[in-house]
Amino acid sequence: MKGFKHLLMLIIIALPILCAPTSALAAENSSSATNTSQVANNDSLQKIKQKGTLVVGLSADYPPYEFTTKQNGKTKYVGFEVSLARQFAKDLGVKLVIKNMDFDSLLVALETGKIDVIISGMNVTNERKKSVDFSNTYYSGDSYFLINKSDKDKLVNAKSFNGKTVGAQNGTLQSSLIAKEMPQATGKGLAKLSSLVIGLQSHKYDGILMDAATAKAYAANNSNLYAFNSKLPNTAGGIAMAFPKGDTSLVNAANQTIKKVNSENLINKKWIPQASQYMKSYKKQNTILSYWRYFAKGIEYTLIITIVSVFFGFILGTLFALMRLSKNKLLHSIAVCYIEFLRGTPMMVQIMFVYFGIGAIIQSLPALLAGIIAVSLNSGAYVAEIIRSGIQSIPLGQTEAARSLGMSKSETFHYVIMPQALKNIWPALGNELITLLKDSSLVSVIGVTELMYQTQLVQSATYKGVLPLFITMIIYFILTFTLSRILLYFEGRMKHAH
Ligand code: ARG
Repeated sequence: MKGFKHLLMLIIIALPILCAPTSALAAENSSSATNTSQVANNDSLQKIKQKGTLVVGLSADYPPYEFTTKQNGKTKYVGFEVSLARQFAKDLGVKLVIKNMDFDSLLVALETGKIDVIISGMNVTNERKKSVDFSNTYYSGDSYFLINKSDKDKLVNAKSFNGKTVGAQNGTLQSSLIAKEMPQATGKGLAKLSSLVIGLQSHKYDGILMDAATAKAYAANNSNLYAFNSKLPNTAGGIAMAFPKGDTSLVNAANQTIKKVNSENLINKKWIPQASQYMKSYKKQNTILSYWRYFAKGIEYTLIITIVSVFFGFILGTLFALMRLSKNKLLHSIAVCYIEFLRGTPMMVQIMFVYFGIGAIIQSLPALLAGIIAVSLNSGAYVAEIIRSGIQSIPLGQTEAARSLGMSKSETFHYVIMPQALKNIWPALGNELITLLKDSSLVSVIGVTELMYQTQLVQSATYKGVLPLFITMIIYFILTFTLSRILLYFEGRMKHAH
């Protein structure tokens, strides 16, 4: 009966919380609608010049369009579209900022103002025209299959994939082409093209559909791969830049740059040869060990996220534990709702919600900060429960004894309950710290350069799927094992103190 009452209370209290995000989202939708029309009036070109930066969104897994290379241990974005982006920024007289993300996140990023323009090998399609404005085109090409060379005699056209598995990057023209034109084949998508190529090499896919230039680039740099024209019907237009709707001033400026680039044939004459040069030189330095800096940076960020989140998680947790134990009905209910809601929803969803949700209100919210906020909020709920159960595990007799000795309520809490509760709380808190360290890997979904994210970078740069993961597993293990030893040491000391 009591449980039922609690549940009812929970639902009543949670309802406004549950409804709040939807109304907030609705509000945000309408405000973003006014935003875009404001952009149109306000001259977005002017805004970019004032800001001094052009933020370009791309998915750097698409040689020779855009990909990464290593220079002095640092990631560098290269490719003919990066050269184009640089030219565009130069023509505007602003600094170029590149945001590397999954191809299927680009449209959302553009809509929410996280980037100013998409320059990512994007074909003009009628579908996309509904949500973005395209510049003039500067490149074009058919869709090609990339396959293992060993299958060269078996796989010769689109039909030969009947009953086989064909991959394409999520959100691309090619993934819809497979769905539409190859009903007999099993289509499978992934966020990063480089992951698909790794999958192809381990025969998880029989072929991958992508733009001609990219398929050829992969085949040219890997003697086990082979590319050929899919001859699938091509209804899309060429490759162009994509801007928020109604953004005419910027589109016009882009068209000026593109006109110059096209008339001087810069892409074919200068930028693609440059890109191939990068591909070649970078194939040579492709040993895993030379990527140690990637892992080091990952460890650094993983530790930052963990330590900062543990600190705030502990403060939040203490607060909510006390609220939950409090006699005040309102405080108690707020704490119960908070704890149940955060423990009852996946952390991955919470992370994305904070990043895109709060990020829609505070546009400049960095991913690292969003990650730390989400992880702290999540950890707070678990810490609250650890502290509460620690306190409640002290038998009532202790309080009664202390009170009958004439101690006040707060004296009882401070001198009798807390010292004993802490001994129960400490080990559980240690576990939470270790869990947090591991779970921080989820923050990679919003592009924070922690260990898991860096591992994916190494995977795509080296075209090795398993080895980077193995190294990362060992690193996580060393971190958590060291941590648990340290915690054990302190636990032992506390026992002695007892
Ligand atoms: N051209 C294709 C499209 O418009 C795929 C582009 C993928 N681009 C990338 N940078 N991964 O859908």
